[in-house]
Amino acid sequence: MSKILSDDGLNLIFREARTHSAWLDEPVDDGLLKKIYDLAKMGPTSANMCPMRVVFVKSPEAKEKLKPALDAGNLEKTMKAPVTAIIGMDIRFYEQLPKLFPHADAKAWFKDLPENVLEYIALRNSSLQGAYFMLAARSLGLDCGPMSGFKNDLVDATFFSGTTVKSNFICSLGHGDASKLHPRSPRLSFDEACKVE
Ligand SMILES: Cc1cc2nc3c(=O)[nH]c(=O)nc-3n(C[C@H](O)[C@H](O)[C@H](O)COP(=O)(O)O)c2cc1C
Repeated sequence: MSKILSDDGLNLIFREARTHSAWLDEPVDDGLLKKIYDLAKMGPTSANMCPMRVVFVKSPEAKEKLKPALDAGNLEKTMKAPVTAIIGMDIRFYEQLPKLFPHADAKAWFKDLPENVLEYIALRNSSLQGAYFMLAARSLGLDCGPMSGFKNDLVDATFFSGTTVKSNFICSLGHGDASKLHPRSPRLSFDEACKVE
């Protein structure tokens, strides 16, 4: 087996993958959502803390609950998406560490940290997991539409009430309508963004 991803695979998840806002009328099966999570969960996080928690907003009732939290520019496209994942983060991620990092008392490293530091750590690691999630979705043939334009407090009150989970970003999933894409925006070149010392 080759130890590098094929050019087709690289095209699928990077070179030809776009952020989509218009969606074809093709449903996304719940089994596929599980496959996405089961791939994404394998990506690395600090002390294997895995703070990401996901709510898949799919039913008309769930969409209606999400609707008031969406920024105007994100409203229509989110309501029309087959599924929108709320990528959340558990600020009390350390409660899972006895299970997730069993070879050390990692819970002790985090449990007494101030709230803002816990949130910072959860944000870093759930954002990484959110990126793994999008690459997993693309690997399985879906398109993604990530968004941060929504009222986090309202999403938290609506979907995570009574828990220690807060929303990070949301990400629509489905089969994108490529005919509605605007031209790809440029990226910084290696020389603009990187240096080797
Ligand atoms: C965390 C995050 C938040 C974003 N928020 C929004 C948003 O609120 N509304 C929107 O229309 N696009 C949003 N985008 C989409 C970006 O503008 C888009 O991914 C970027 O321009 C690259 O586009 P491309 O993948 O088609 O090259 C967001 C993307 C990310 C990753």
